[in-house]
Amino acid sequence: MSYILPDEDFMILAESSLIRRDYLTIKERTRLDSLACGYCHKRLLNQKQRVVVAQSDYTSFNSYIPFTVTQRNGGKESKNKVVVITGGATGIGLHIADNYLKHGAKLTILLDINEKHGADAVKTLTTKHGSNKAVFIKCDVTTDLDTVSKKILDTYKTVDILVNNAGILDDQAWKKCIDINVTYLIGWAMKFWDHMRKDNGGKGGTIVNLASIYGYRVEPYLPVYQASKFAVLGFTRSLGHRDNYKKTGVRVVAICPGFTETNLTVSPKTWDDVFFSVDFTKYLNAQAWQKVEAVGKAAADVFETAESGSAWLIEGGRPIVEVVN
Ligand SMILES: NC(=O)c1ccc[n+]([C@@H]2O[C@H](COP(=O)([O-])OP(=O)(O)OC[C@H]3O[C@@H](n4cnc5c(N)ncnc54)[C@H](O)[C@@H]3O)[C@@H](O)[C@H]2O)c1
Repeated sequence: MSYILPDEDFMILAESSLIRRDYLTIKERTRLDSLACGYCHKRLLNQKQRVVVAQSDYTSFNSYIPFTVTQRNGGKESKNKVVVITGGATGIGLHIADNYLKHGAKLTILLDINEKHGADAVKTLTTKHGSNKAVFIKCDVTTDLDTVSKKILDTYKTVDILVNNAGILDDQAWKKCIDINVTYLIGWAMKFWDHMRKDNGGKGGTIVNLASIYGYRVEPYLPVYQASKFAVLGFTRSLGHRDNYKKTGVRVVAICPGFTETNLTVSPKTWDDVFFSVDFTKYLNAQAWQKVEAVGKAAADVFETAESGSAWLIEGGRPIVEVVN
């Protein structure tokens, strides 16, 4: 194994596919940590270089998570696109809507169970982007798939982007958690995949699934939520597989946010709050928390960058990095 660490470039080139973090000198680790910042990521993308890096996972100093940072050619624009966002009335979904509109989307259709938040969201988005840029439809993703998707397609004819964002973090309500986070994420994806498929008379499109760092990183506190997000990542990689993309023209990608300040993380429910409480609280306090605005912006970057079947980390407010494991 060999690697070079030029002072100017913040770059590690490796002959093997991975560099173990504990093989690095302190100086190299410092460089590696700065590489995790998006400034360098952007520079690398611009230079069209392929670089394999290892990064600390913040919990175990010597462990590594492999990322590949490459120039991608999945690139698309959200300009003039009709976007459906489940759970779009607040949090990450609302900020994704805001950013897609900033990038020229034609219309965002927000689906949510919370009518009050839905009305507020439409007011915010239309005030900022124009009166015809956002609509709200009351919808429970677990019960209204057929009626609401029919209503959308009857009214707007073509949907270009589906953001499968609705989700809960509640290990005690384990069936509900799997229903919302997995079963109906799949249901909504397949409904709109069929609608978008070019081999089926559609115009192609993009499906963005909200996974999580918990879709590939394992901690002991939330096994049900983790299972749901691992499922989302597997589903995305398979449905979005390049063979499917070639035939259908439907790109399927995943976003994996780290800890983000939204309603979801105000009081996450573990299976047994007494059993987990002290450790979990310590763990939560040690995380690299980010503002929800950073995830909205990252979703626009993912839209412009990602190839079908890929998954992208946004953590600590730093720019997107592809997850390859
Ligand atoms: N906040 C984080 O730290 C974080 C990290 C990684 C991934 N995520 C994922 O991002 C997505 C959005 O989370 P968020 O943090 O913005 O949470 P949030 O609670 O702020 O927003 C979720 C939205 O989904 C809606 N919703 C819940 N159940 C629904 C249902 N059955 N039908 C329709 N809408 C429903 C809620 O009303 C809410 O508006 C989720 O899938 C979550 O798992 C969040």
